[in-house]
Amino acid sequence: MKTLFINIKELIQTRDKLIEKVSGKEMNILPKIENAFLLIEDNLIIGFGSMIDCPKTENTTVIDATGKIILPAWVDSHTHIVYAGNRVQEFVDRINGLSYKEIALRGGGILNSAKKLQETSEDTIYQESKIRLEEIMSQGTGAVEIKSGYGLSVEGELKMLRVIKRLKENYPIAIKATFLGAHAFPVAYKENHSAYIDLIINKMIPAIANEKLADYIDAFLETGYFSVDETIQIMQAGKKHGLQAKIHVNQFTTIGGIKACVENEALSVDHLEIVSDDDIELLKNSQTMPVALPNCSYFISIPYTPARKMIDAGLALALASDFNPGTTPSGNMNFVVASACIKMEMTPEESINAATINGAYAMGLSKTHGSITIGKKATIIITKPLNSFYQIPYEFTSNLIEKVMIEGQFIK
Ligand code: NIG
Ligand code: FE
Repeated sequence: MKTLFINIKELIQTRDKLIEKVSGKEMNILPKIENAFLLIEDNLIIGFGSMIDCPKTENTTVIDATGKIILPAWVDSHTHIVYAGNRVQEFVDRINGLSYKEIALRGGGILNSAKKLQETSEDTIYQESKIRLEEIMSQGTGAVEIKSGYGLSVEGELKMLRVIKRLKENYPIAIKATFLGAHAFPVAYKENHSAYIDLIINKMIPAIANEKLADYIDAFLETGYFSVDETIQIMQAGKKHGLQAKIHVNQFTTIGGIKACVENEALSVDHLEIVSDDDIELLKNSQTMPVALPNCSYFISIPYTPARKMIDAGLALALASDFNPGTTPSGNMNFVVASACIKMEMTPEESINAATINGAYAMGLSKTHGSITIGKKATIIITKPLNSFYQIPYEFTSNLIEKVMIEGQFIK
């Protein structure tokens, strides 16, 4: 089945050649075609260009997109959308003066979500999580990475990853699963960290690899969580089972984590609210994608990733939501893109590149997602009539999306 969009006011992020990512100054270049057409067959893009060259096709559904903008759907390379219940009480506690760290020290935070997850059946977790997945799809997300990390036991982590697998099977959206057993030390291992690392390496990873439940491995490398050495052990154990690393690092402190991640060929390093000049130098000479999560900074009032400095130094940068119950109960990538423009001094061009092609790189999907390119998935956002794509970050809370197509299927 073919679908032809005609008279598109602006077709954004058009790339004739396959590219993996954009870095530095290239991030400010966002190719577009005005008065364009886009041709889709089944789940793939098979043509695009100026209306002057619009093909005449038979047996094709023609959709007039006059006044509208079409862009590749957002690629959200960092989320934790599988969880049980919520942490609304901690939100109120923070307003009343407690910090994220203080709440965690009282047994709240990640351990609070772990307790809820343990008490909730796999089916209920699936039902709660699919609501979030459907919500982000309707907000224009066309590929998403989902982490485990609230199980913190062999059974708990398997339960989460099986929920992710079920989401993969039941929805058209591309999903990558990341194993995050090293998210926090469970209470029972508080005084015996090496026993928990041992459990991750010798029990969790083999069980997960055996059921092929994960694509990547993650750890929360941070003061008070997992040390540089512990994270190195986890990255190396993951690698043996084909799981490349994507690491939570430099959210609150810089303790040498980026060096370890780069040396262990991590696909991405995520958060980076605190970044040193040395960290930037290390990333410059690597294939590791830095990922910023501005909605986390917004929600828990911590610094924003110094994007300007990083891009000016020649680095690539991706943007993701971090959707999770503690630090970011929102997966709205439109707001992420707006936040990058408003709070991180990123241009709309840089922000859209960061939330599409660079996001795709950070989840191993550059060949299929993140740009309007022949042969890539027909996974696109069709906006309401707009003056230009600049309106997307400008009207930062309006819903400007009219339709979302994921792999050829309209979902909204
Ligand atoms: O990315 N920082 C670590 N993990 C999550 C938060 C997890 C939680 O508080 O539940 C994050 O912010
Ligand atoms: Fe996260």
